Amino acid sequence: MMSIEIPVGLKDMLQGYTVEVLRRRPTDLVEFAIQYFTRLQESRKHDKHAIDSPVNSARKGVAFDSNSFESDEDEDSDDYMPPPTPNKYSRRVSVCAEAYNPDDDEDDDFEPRVVHPKSDEQRRRLQDACRDILLFKTLDQEQFSEVLDGMFEVLVKPQEHIIDQGDDGDNFYVIERGVYDIVVLIDGVGKCVGKYDNKGSFGELALMYNTPRAATIMANQEGALWGLDRATFHRLIVKNNAKKRKMYEAFIECVPLLKSLELSERMKIVDVVGMRVFRDGECILTQGDKADCFYIVESGEVKIMIISKVGTKAGQQGNAEVEIARCSRGQYFGELALVTNKPRAASVYAVGVTKCLVIDIQAFERLLGSCKEIMKRNISQYENQLVALFGSSVDLKH
Ligand code: CMP
Ligand code: CMP
Repeated sequence: MMSIEIPVGLKDMLQGYTVEVLRRRPTDLVEFAIQYFTRLQESRKHDKHAIDSPVNSARKGVAFDSNSFESDEDEDSDDYMPPPTPNKYSRRVSVCAEAYNPDDDEDDDFEPRVVHPKSDEQRRRLQDACRDILLFKTLDQEQFSEVLDGMFEVLVKPQEHIIDQGDDGDNFYVIERGVYDIVVLIDGVGKCVGKYDNKGSFGELALMYNTPRAATIMANQEGALWGLDRATFHRLIVKNNAKKRKMYEAFIECVPLLKSLELSERMKIVDVVGMRVFRDGECILTQGDKADCFYIVESGEVKIMIISKVGTKAGQQGNAEVEIARCSRGQYFGELALVTNKPRAASVYAVGVTKCLVIDIQAFERLLGSCKEIMKRNISQYENQLVALFGSSVDLKH
């Protein structure tokens, strides 16, 4: 009788696959097999600690997202992440609009760590560009350095579309330089709703919520961006968002300004906020400056100071900063310039160590539009406050 030698590892490998099939019950066994074994190969290639034998690799197996391959109507709602790629033109083949659930993410742990080598000069430019990116502000040192490793440079030409509304999300982008229009289709017509001017980041929404791109981003001039692939963004930023939600959920619930929002809207705010800590006396924003952020005090206190003309001993006029108000936990500041499209109306300083949640102007426009009425009502109070202090009437709105 002919004896057939069974290759080492075959049994374990097929067993691993069979277990996954029984767990997931995919409708398309062949498609599932392709994805299972592709992922297995990827995790073997990239797992530095794996002993490179078929037995060990097969034992390790591959875990899939629990929503993948579940039913016929969900056929194209797969959450399988292809190996990370720096090519912004390689699109995901399917769109899945389900809400993000961090508990479904066990397979993220198999994503290989992506490193795009950089010169010292590139790394310095990248660090500068990322310094004020709010989404990175709640990462620890190790996570932040993984993000930097995973980023790759993208040079853009004038009129180039970096993102097209409706597409699947591939990368997240941080701006190094250049001006970019944000165009949103409203009743079928593209409307420019804002722009990024040499700083900021975009492209996080499709990656966070598995939705199609919500806007078109177009370069006005030559520029440079740093991209982060979908899988790395998911592993480092989206997973961190689950922690952020837990950390800030209770606090955000008791911010009076946000009371009128739905819980899901408040959580979307948490997903994009950054946290900044200011030293006692540190200037948070300066009267007359251009505005790009909005703040909510989480702990500590801030004082609002306005420059006022004062008489000096010699009878001349001078300028002095006068305190006009304070904000503490749950209160907000920095909205006025965003609502009126004017420079900062006052300077703001930390009183003691102060922690603030920070929201950038684009997220402010997108998520806090319905709170603007409340803010506008407060502007009249500011005006009254200034009249009480300085005697003359003030128009902050125009
Ligand atoms: P995303 O939907 O992935 O791709 C388009 C990006 O434009 C989006 O993420 C946001 O980062 C950014 N953006 C800025 N302003 C808006 C806006 N008003 N509506 C939608 N997206 C916006
Ligand atoms: P903004 O103008 O963006 O920056 C300074 C902030 O100080 C302003 O928004 C308000 O949030 C806050 N502020 C509080 N009281 C006043 C006031 N009386 N006049 C102007 N700004 C005020």
